[in-house]
Amino acid sequence: MDRSLTERDRQVIWHPYTQHKDLLPPIPVLQGKGSLLFDEMGKSYIDAISSWWVNIHGHSHPYIAERLYQQALRLEHVIFTGFTHEPAVILAERLLPLLPGDFSRIFYSDNGSTAVEVAIKMAIQYWRNQSLTSGSDRPAPRSRILAFHHSYHGDTFGAMSVSERSLFTAPFSNYLFEVTFVDTPTPDNIDALRMMIRNQGNEFACFIYEPLLQAAGGMRIYDAALLDQLLEEARGQRILCIADEVLTGFGRTGSLFAGEYLTQKADIVCLSKGLTGGTMALGVTAATERIFEAFLSDDRRLTLFHGHSFTANPLACTAALASLDLLLEPDCIANIRRLTGRHAAFLNSIRSYPIVRNARALGTVLAFELNIGKDEYVNNTGPAITRDALDAGIYLRPLGNTVYFMPPYCITEKEMDQVYEFLVHCIRKYSDQQVTS
Ligand SMILES: Cc1ncc(COP(=O)(O)O)c(C=O)c1O
Repeated sequence: MDRSLTERDRQVIWHPYTQHKDLLPPIPVLQGKGSLLFDEMGKSYIDAISSWWVNIHGHSHPYIAERLYQQALRLEHVIFTGFTHEPAVILAERLLPLLPGDFSRIFYSDNGSTAVEVAIKMAIQYWRNQSLTSGSDRPAPRSRILAFHHSYHGDTFGAMSVSERSLFTAPFSNYLFEVTFVDTPTPDNIDALRMMIRNQGNEFACFIYEPLLQAAGGMRIYDAALLDQLLEEARGQRILCIADEVLTGFGRTGSLFAGEYLTQKADIVCLSKGLTGGTMALGVTAATERIFEAFLSDDRRLTLFHGHSFTANPLACTAALASLDLLLEPDCIANIRRLTGRHAAFLNSIRSYPIVRNARALGTVLAFELNIGKDEYVNNTGPAITRDALDAGIYLRPLGNTVYFMPPYCITEKEMDQVYEFLVHCIRKYSDQQVTS
């Protein structure tokens, strides 16, 4: 008898972020349409977390699929040094004016982590190049890096180094470079943060931050005006500001980019996830002309020696162009507004439950903590909710006891109702358990 896909998977696959000892059998997904995923038996699941936060227009979108097919027939891939191609150039031309800042160059890579790696390398080498080229007035070399506690910027070594030290990074702690971590700004600490930057600013090469929303760190939302104050101070000290918009880009926070909520602009921005509508792996690191120029030289040592086999893959760039077409359509913008409004209304309806803490929303992202156990990733509430949700035909993946809902923008009203109803069911179930225990 044929073995099921799940059984075959168990023999040969090593899944990400998965403890295989107590693995729930992975669900074979045969098809996706809109916000729905369909398994082998035809059962549907609402993708309430946009497949790890990437999918913005729904699954298997026919417009993106058609554009990909046509591009695959024309050019599937070509080395991106010594060659160029239309999808990469057009995408850069279209992205640059949309980004919140004075960006003039797009560097392509493969995913969010590589977009961050590139950004850090650009910033570090920017300062090194200055010291190699300038004359007697050359700036003192800068080596320190500033980042926020609770940040998450990816799983490669550089990206891990600038992320909060955590369960994820513990096995590698001796191999991560040193970073100065500070709390995200609050009315209580902002003066101290500004003072620290004023006093030590000329030692810092760069400052990397997830604007407004620290996602993997627990869907933590923080204040735009306070971040602006910090950025103003950092920019005053010529610290290169790196906005990691890997998650917040492409409408997630209600605006096209989270940087639109800020008056202070970044020097470098990292993009991925929604960039291709969640269809293909692609990373973008955008830089200002000032940074690009620091790499221009007759001295080849000043080159940015970074690239990947699939840098600027034409299919991925085409998917990004198609996704951008869809994103800028009035229907999509209306959907983002619709989600934003519905999340805000739902929040008000759950705030009165004592078990719900810190109910919050930013654009299309809704989150709250359930007051059960410790606030940590390994809190077992998360997997338990995932199991219950699957039974209800919904895919949710809480971060420990932090429950969040982040759907594709095309999710229907009915599907949203279903997810909200399930969340209320969860809240009531855990409230009852607390009463009886
Ligand atoms: C803000 C942020 N930066 C970087 C990354 C890493 O992206 P990737 O998983 O594509 O490597 C993530 C992933 O969740 C992220 O949320």
